[in-house]
Amino acid sequence: YNELAAFPDTFLWGSASAAYQIEGAWKEDGKGASIWDTFVRIPGKTFKGTTGDVAVDHYHRWKEDVALMAEMGLKAYRFSIAWTRLFPEGKGEVNPKGLAFYDELINELLKHQIEPIVTIYHWDLPQALQDEYGGWESRRIIDDFTHYAETLFKAFGDRVTYWVTLNEQNIFTGLGYRQAMHPPGRIDEKQFYQVNHYASVANAKAIASFRKLVPHGKIGPSFAYGPVYPYTCKPEDILAAENAEELSNHWWMDVYAWGEYPKWAWSYLEKQGVAPEVTEEDLAILKSGIPDFMGVNYYQTSTVEKNPLDGVTSGKFNTSGKKGTSEATGTPGVFKTAFNPHLETTNWDWEIDPVGLRIGLRRIHNRYGLPVLISENGLGEFDKVDEDGRIQDTYRIDYLRSHIIAIQEALSDGVDVIGYCTWSFTDLLSWLNGFQKRYGFVYVNQHEEGKHDLKRLKKDSFYWYQRVIQTNGDTL
Ligand code: BG6
Repeated sequence: YNELAAFPDTFLWGSASAAYQIEGAWKEDGKGASIWDTFVRIPGKTFKGTTGDVAVDHYHRWKEDVALMAEMGLKAYRFSIAWTRLFPEGKGEVNPKGLAFYDELINELLKHQIEPIVTIYHWDLPQALQDEYGGWESRRIIDDFTHYAETLFKAFGDRVTYWVTLNEQNIFTGLGYRQAMHPPGRIDEKQFYQVNHYASVANAKAIASFRKLVPHGKIGPSFAYGPVYPYTCKPEDILAAENAEELSNHWWMDVYAWGEYPKWAWSYLEKQGVAPEVTEEDLAILKSGIPDFMGVNYYQTSTVEKNPLDGVTSGKFNTSGKKGTSEATGTPGVFKTAFNPHLETTNWDWEIDPVGLRIGLRRIHNRYGLPVLISENGLGEFDKVDEDGRIQDTYRIDYLRSHIIAIQEALSDGVDVIGYCTWSFTDLLSWLNGFQKRYGFVYVNQHEEGKHDLKRLKKDSFYWYQRVIQTNGDTL
């Protein structure tokens, strides 16, 4: 029983990034503004008002970054395309310079035998579409998103096998329409569910189109999966955990995998008057766009308990890096979050739970029978550069090692895990937390304030992951 399965030879040892968080060059070569370019300019929205105008300047240093990936021996690199580089206004004529940038990047990766994994949408919606019809708030987004995705399939489908449709639909809609922490900064429960419905239909429509345009490719969404635990074995807490798993996870994953909304959650939301408006045609589209894999961004589990009818609704999130400053959130009568006393947390109060990854992988495998691509997992920390330029990030190595072991255990349990992309390859801009919260194998000399040389430095974790890849996971 204790014998662990070996990682398959085809295992995609990877790392990931997102356009807004690395590229910079926010107005160059015909790029249009995204909702993030606008949002970060509103005072008080991000840590010290940090923007992605320069980010880590990957737009100008991509060759150097890919050379580092090649030196590490990376098998796969997941990156996202900025919609606004291709279509500055979100639609219309394609900008050839935008296309050329990603074309060269893909070719360079392939030259080094690095499998590109292309994320179509990682939150940087064209501002023009937000202005014209409210972006995800309108059904019109479905066709514009599909058109954008088809442009990519036609341009890169001959060389790119792996595709991710939407990154963390549950997060960008939740923080955008429930917590007002991401653009467009609203709190509107009904809108939140409607936006999600349109996004799910857009996701399915793009997948259906992918089947025709890239018949040999593999495509799936990346879902931010936080498996839910009950706080105690009190039946009321177990029920709260069932409720949370259905409302916070199945609500998206059932739709992706089966084209169906979960039944209890649907009737609950209908009673609350916030269920989305859905047409027969939408339901048919949802059924027509089933993914090849479930992409999972795994950072933490969540623990919940019973929430009385007059209980907690929405608490604060820690964006400061000061431990213990986040608060419980919940839905009265349904569940509320609790702090798990058995888990350590990061400086941003994210629970560190490798066993939760094994549990989550097994839940997905049992419920949906789909292969899983871990499209993100990693540790955000304050890294320190020693006088000799070394970055001793042993905490990151420990974190990643324990999660890789959990994957190996899940593989041994029979789960089909096809790859593991750490978050992130180089340091990058954390949406709300500036550059202080670092995730990379490669340190980038970039900070919230002042001008910096953006020099790349390999951290200890770089050499460690290099060895993990070389030995196909035998040396951890
Ligand atoms: C995921 C996102 O939610 O988590 C990434 O897909 C993000 O884009 C990552 O950077 C870490 O989040 P944060 O808030 O620590 O930057």
